[in-house]
Amino acid sequence: MSKKYDTIFQKVNYNLIKEANIEELKKEEAVKLAANLLKKGEVLAFPTETVYGLGADASKTKAVEKIYQAKGRPQDNPLIVHIANREQLRSLIRGDISVETENLISNFWPGPLTIILDKNDLLPDATTAGLSSVAIRMPAHPLSRALIELSGLALAAPSANKSGAPSPTTADHVANDLDGRIAMILDGGPSKVGLESTVLDVRGQVRILRPGGVSRKDIEKVLGYKLDDSNNYVQGKLEKELDNEKPLSPGMKYRHYSPETPLYIVKDNDDLVKILEEILHSNKGDNYQKECQEAVGFILTNESYEKYSSFLHGPGIKLIKMGSRKKVEMIAANLFSLLRSLDQMSLRKAYIEAIPEEGIGEAVMNRLYKASLES
Ligand code: TXA
Ligand code: MG
Repeated sequence: MSKKYDTIFQKVNYNLIKEANIEELKKEEAVKLAANLLKKGEVLAFPTETVYGLGADASKTKAVEKIYQAKGRPQDNPLIVHIANREQLRSLIRGDISVETENLISNFWPGPLTIILDKNDLLPDATTAGLSSVAIRMPAHPLSRALIELSGLALAAPSANKSGAPSPTTADHVANDLDGRIAMILDGGPSKVGLESTVLDVRGQVRILRPGGVSRKDIEKVLGYKLDDSNNYVQGKLEKELDNEKPLSPGMKYRHYSPETPLYIVKDNDDLVKILEEILHSNKGDNYQKECQEAVGFILTNESYEKYSSFLHGPGIKLIKMGSRKKVEMIAANLFSLLRSLDQMSLRKAYIEAIPEEGIGEAVMNRLYKASLES
């Protein structure tokens, strides 16, 4: 696609972000420029604590359409609306907020939790893809908050990647995907959480539509009961099987996060040993030359790396560390960067080690199931 914009790229004073000085951030030239562009109906990328978002005025059809165009996003996949205060929340929804939902809001906002509520008639169909509900989130990143407050707008914002690519966790990731296709990129440093928000439907029985930055356990703690996961949409694997049926959350039926490099999940140690034996065996045969040129990647936790690095060496093998099992938050924060860097390594294929689906590990594995192929 031809370049439509001369994308403005601006860094924002990192100290103000670290200090969460929202009032001073609003005085920054870059933030003022961004707020003005948004008021004019433009589309631009800004950092949130989860991933970078691609924002536009949620109340204007024309502005929201620019988001879909820039990303190449299917029109039937609704957007999350980002807000900075309770008045904005009230202005978007229909009906009362239940005590339970209030409780979730006061515990997790601002932060990586998106809540699905009934929408009112003021929001255009373009924002919610014609649904009667709307996904709303109050981001915690000081720069997102400064931008929403200064513009006075609720911002429709999906992740700021090309549709199908891993979500961006740095301004450079955004530039790689969208330079020339959007008005501006605000650089506020790397996103801390690194995975998208948890999407929670609170209309009727509460259920997780997408695991993310707030863990199932933390939500259950606040609710005071266990979530029913009989209709378990949590595993990307199951989502794949449900592709042809009508999904609860429209975004779940599309392929996501996929590197070009074929990626496979290694479930456990036995699985890893089996794969290793196959590779070592084939390296002895006629394929050796080919294997040397295009290595097989192994993305391992630091613990497995220590254990297996003495076996796993040679020209046909490339080892990549993904972080410690004891610090799953770090694995989550670096995951999308890692998936993006895979394609620069000229690998024939790559294997990535599974981690326990606990805490944010559930969201990590959900993204990996979606990014990977069935072995
Ligand atoms: O952390 C995040 O949530 C990031 C940052 C930018 O806030 N945003 C994000 O947006 O991940 P996106 O568009 O990449 O993912 C939004 C997900 C999609 O799966 C979409 O289908 C679902 O939320 N969604 C949006 N509105 C919905 C609705 N009314 N009902 C059900 N699912 C909805
Ligand atoms: Mg996305």
